[in-house]
Amino acid sequence: MSDKIFSISTIPGDGIGPNIIESATKIVDKAALIVGGFQCHWDYIKAGATYYEETGLDVEIGGEEKAEKSDAIFLGAIGLPKIRKEDGTEIAPHLRFREKFGLYAGVRPVKAYPNSPQRLKDPNSKNINFVILRECTEGLFYTASVHNRNPIANDNEVHDIMKITRETSKKLHNFAFKLAQKRKLKGSIGKVTCVDKANVFKSQALFRKVFNEVKTGFKDIKADTSYVDAMALNLIRNPWEYDVLVMENIFGDILSDMGGGLVGGMGMASCAEIGDKHGLFQPAHGSAPDIMGQNKANPLATILSATMMLEYISEKSNNKFPDEAAQLIENAIEDGFEKNLLRPNEFGGDMGTTDVTNQILSLLESQQKKIRS
Ligand code: IPM
Ligand code: MG
Repeated sequence: MSDKIFSISTIPGDGIGPNIIESATKIVDKAALIVGGFQCHWDYIKAGATYYEETGLDVEIGGEEKAEKSDAIFLGAIGLPKIRKEDGTEIAPHLRFREKFGLYAGVRPVKAYPNSPQRLKDPNSKNINFVILRECTEGLFYTASVHNRNPIANDNEVHDIMKITRETSKKLHNFAFKLAQKRKLKGSIGKVTCVDKANVFKSQALFRKVFNEVKTGFKDIKADTSYVDAMALNLIRNPWEYDVLVMENIFGDILSDMGGGLVGGMGMASCAEIGDKHGLFQPAHGSAPDIMGQNKANPLATILSATMMLEYISEKSNNKFPDEAAQLIENAIEDGFEKNLLRPNEFGGDMGTTDVTNQILSLLESQQKKIRS
């Protein structure tokens, strides 16, 4: 990794993907210009359902190797419901990336911004600020169609496997506690909740066992456990009481959409997928073909994913500037919501993708003035 110019493998993908990627790259470039000290080089790779339909490939030849060598992977959205493989599943090369690049830690923040819709009546919902940490390489996705590992798969019967390993669970739980430590420094309560179904499944009992072992190394962080069904209830009843929630792959897939819903919609659902050597950053939502090409997509989930990418790059390269740019962007978004300057179409507002993007660009300029004065 160079310590100033970072090569980002950029996959716009399908549907709204190209528009939200365009928005986020503009914003990162602007923040980089303001902060100085680093630059992102966006290296585009063709992939996705449309590309598959045209070529029979889900990623361009050499694309995965390019992604592997780059400093980070930035993805818009992949998949279109109309384009499917023979077994009925959609095109999802990013599931392969998660496994190939060992991206076990799926970080999905759920944070209520001022003036963004609060779906719950309770006034405490303005304090929602937790992270779903979704394991991304095993669990029930181990046999996902792209890996084609079903022990039985025919027209009458299909078996999918839930795989949990001590090695990955240990890394994931460690990641969870370290994340809680970092968040505690910024004012969070410092708590990790293991969300599982350990009362029923042996795989889930192992997941919890490893959690209980790992927690002993983090005395400064509170640790508790919850069954996933009870967590679905509590995320509606008292979501503001949680900090870091660590869980298996499919549970994280489901509860992270619920998290998005709690704070507005999927247009707020950002995501970082981090492994020992690689990081992939993408919004947790799909390609939204129903609104593609209409300038209606909310680019915020992608922009917020980009801020996590900047933090990741900073940590890896020991260059503090990308992290400063991330802070600048986050402050601009917070400020924009606070002043009611960000009103995405997704929340019934009057602003499409371009308007939200331009507003954040101008908010970045005001942040710049604040820094200078
Ligand atoms: C997500 C998405 C993906 C997943 C799909 C598009 C394959 O829902 O990132 O949450 O299931 O992981
Ligand atoms: Mg999902």
